[in-house]
Amino acid sequence: MTDTPPVRPVSRRRLITGGALAAGGALAGGAAVAATRSGGNGQRPATDMTPAANVGRLVEPFHGARQAGVATEPQAHASFVAFTLRPGTDRAALGRMLRLLTDDAARLTQGRPALADTEAELGLLPARLTVTFGFGPGLYRAAGVDDRRPASVAELPAFRIDRLQPAWSGGDLLLQICADDAITVVHAQRVLIKDSRPFATVRWVQQGFRRSPGVEPDGHTQRNLFGQLDGTANPRPGTPLDTALWVPDGPAWLRDSTTLVVRRISMNLETWDLLGRTDRELAVGRRLDTGAPLTGTAEHDEPDFAATGPDGLTVIPDFSHLTRAHVTEDRLRILRRPYNYDGVPTAEGHADSGLIFTSYQADIARQYLPIQRRLAERDLLNEWTTPIGSAVFAIPPGCQPGGWVGEQVLG
Ligand code: HEM
Repeated sequence: MTDTPPVRPVSRRRLITGGALAAGGALAGGAAVAATRSGGNGQRPATDMTPAANVGRLVEPFHGARQAGVATEPQAHASFVAFTLRPGTDRAALGRMLRLLTDDAARLTQGRPALADTEAELGLLPARLTVTFGFGPGLYRAAGVDDRRPASVAELPAFRIDRLQPAWSGGDLLLQICADDAITVVHAQRVLIKDSRPFATVRWVQQGFRRSPGVEPDGHTQRNLFGQLDGTANPRPGTPLDTALWVPDGPAWLRDSTTLVVRRISMNLETWDLLGRTDRELAVGRRLDTGAPLTGTAEHDEPDFAATGPDGLTVIPDFSHLTRAHVTEDRLRILRRPYNYDGVPTAEGHADSGLIFTSYQADIARQYLPIQRRLAERDLLNEWTTPIGSAVFAIPPGCQPGGWVGEQVLG
């Protein structure tokens, strides 16, 4: 299935084309100076920050009804490792593999080396390590339990904006490894891949980062590589997050599960750099410095999509990312937990940058797809962003001590 071609709303305010692009360099330069003079984004004093010395020893719980690494406050580093099951990895073999990987994860996340850990010292600082297991559609088929696959965990429909590469797409099993320290992530990744070898091959690995702990006050929204505050409208813990995120009832393999969409989205910094600040803000519908909607003054002000300016046009353009992505009903919201990526630039110095966009929701078809369709159809941000990878996974329920992740699905 494909979508209608994306509409390029460049006529409005003569945005983005000719004049706007030509003026961009100068405007962007001026804005950078202004931001520096204002002290940069109204950040609070350093005294609000978590002492960096504690970070290595902080522990996230592993056992529980729901897996960690979803509602967990995002850690600074992430590695998403997708596997293809080897032929012959059936239900029984999957059970053996997941018991082993669960044991590794349960130890490493609590600051204990894995069994037969060849670099045991690297297992001692968990730095809030979480290992989250995701099951792709192929895992249910291989195990002969397709009737236990959440219905919406299926390859996404094709969108006209997609330029998907097999190197970043699909996967039977996902391990999402996150921690506030890169060495901790890499060590866990090594252990888990080693123990997976008899059962699966590595299909792709995507490594990403956010701000390190202590760099900004706790609870501060991170910035993506376009410089935008990214995550403002995310549901917060304590809000009606649960109803949108976790499956509340049903059989044991479904209850307390969620689903994950991973999209690798390349961001064209070269052409984004040509835009002036005003055009960048119109494309998203929020200000770059504070993250406030164009109709407000503070980051968390409610956007007013009906407000019009002197020209009679809405202040927040109808093609802005904010307008297209906005969701009003709590049960239809998604939890975004994106990580930036920044690969090796070309010889000519062109960046390989983007977002490992991740979205968690109880049901992909009900919550994620309507937003993605609206964005694919008409989001000005599409001018500078291109999805190059796509994968979907069920995040099965968690396990208790002595149990293993996947036992409700495969047991
Ligand atoms: C590289 C690609 C993308 C970039 C740079 C980006 C950036 C942003 C930014 C800056 C905001 C405003 C601040 C915030 O609330 O976080 C935002 C909001 C949002 N984005 Fe994206 N985004 C991208 C892709 C996507 C995709 C693929 C989806 C879902 C299919 C999505 C869904 C949303 C939603 C739901 C919001 C909140 C809208 C609201 O205010 O209700 N974004 N994004």
